[in-house]
Amino acid sequence: METKVERINREQMNMEIIREAGSILKKGGLVAFPTETVYGLGANALDEKAAAKTYAAKGRPSDNPLIVHIARLEDLYEVAEHVPEKAETLARKFWPGPLTMIFEKTSIVPYGTTGGLETVAVRMPDDEIARALILAGGGYVSGPSANTSGRPSPTTAGHVMDDLNGKIEMILDGGAVHIGVESTIVDMTSEPPMILRPGAVTKEMLEKEIGQVLVDHAVLDADSKTPPKAPGMKYRHYAPKAELTVIEGELESVVSTIQKMAGEKEEQGYRTGIIATEETVNRYSGSNIKCIGTREDESTVAANLYGILREFDADGTDYIYSESFDAEGIGSAVMNRLLKAAGHRVIKI
Ligand code: TXA
Ligand code: MG
Repeated sequence: METKVERINREQMNMEIIREAGSILKKGGLVAFPTETVYGLGANALDEKAAAKTYAAKGRPSDNPLIVHIARLEDLYEVAEHVPEKAETLARKFWPGPLTMIFEKTSIVPYGTTGGLETVAVRMPDDEIARALILAGGGYVSGPSANTSGRPSPTTAGHVMDDLNGKIEMILDGGAVHIGVESTIVDMTSEPPMILRPGAVTKEMLEKEIGQVLVDHAVLDADSKTPPKAPGMKYRHYAPKAELTVIEGELESVVSTIQKMAGEKEEQGYRTGIIATEETVNRYSGSNIKCIGTREDESTVAANLYGILREFDADGTDYIYSESFDAEGIGSAVMNRLLKAAGHRVIKI
């Protein structure tokens, strides 16, 4: 199949292209689209066959449920059986935006979409292109990240092309995404609600609206033996081809340890990469050094993380060494993804 790439301008959306993309979805086809978090792989969420195609294109295990994307609040009640008041409060505050909530599903949502679960994940993305596509496609669009399963999520249409060219009908290219890490997932079927995956909507932001919120133990605990509650979080995810190690500790020692470890591997003939920050980038030498952003504003780190991991793949890197970040605010999402990419290889100094 030939994958059509259509560039879309948010300020002046070409509705003919949106309609064409919507009709692909209605016929059961696949269209990748930008959201504020990462690119999604769109399909009709109410069509079991379209879900099967989604799993095949991504090479994703079919017990890993998809998020249903909506564009109008009233559509939530069509797919969610029981919407607690706290969820309505969160929807009013954070939708459209990088928040996914889990509910008991209604009968219109096929098990193909929910990976066999009785619950459904729902999100209203804050991206005009995404919302226009959802409406054109019938209102309910499943959207896993538009990457091959196991690779870093795509933050540009180019990343989607690299993974899915020839496997999907269309890519809507809306440029680079804003946030760069996937949405926060909150399970609203438990009380208190529980964060299953950290994202740009932080625990503090949620608690300000609805009081106590728990965090799934698997989110930051590297050694946890109990499986995470979001099935997708158990897979070796977000992973680059190189072996990634995260070095934690006081910044000075982190820099010298990384420099030493990378230097040793270079001497053995390996290609090494270093994930540095604006504050430290000038202090490294001899490796493939990439600046991921500034410690002053960790949203810059979030925005660059997946793109940098992909660049290291393209460079044929064998070993990557990364500084670690404060797990505050969006830093919690950054550290969650970084530690998963590292397969929890962490050196504490
Ligand atoms: O930001 C995002 O959420 C992006 C964009 C495209 O919207 N989408 C995304 O989808 O990250 P995906 O499929 O890559 O990740 C969905 C996660 C998986 O870890 C999955 O296991 C979990 O959500 N999930 C989905 N439905 C669930 C459910 N009913 N119960 C528990 N976890 C669920
Ligand atoms: Mg994903």
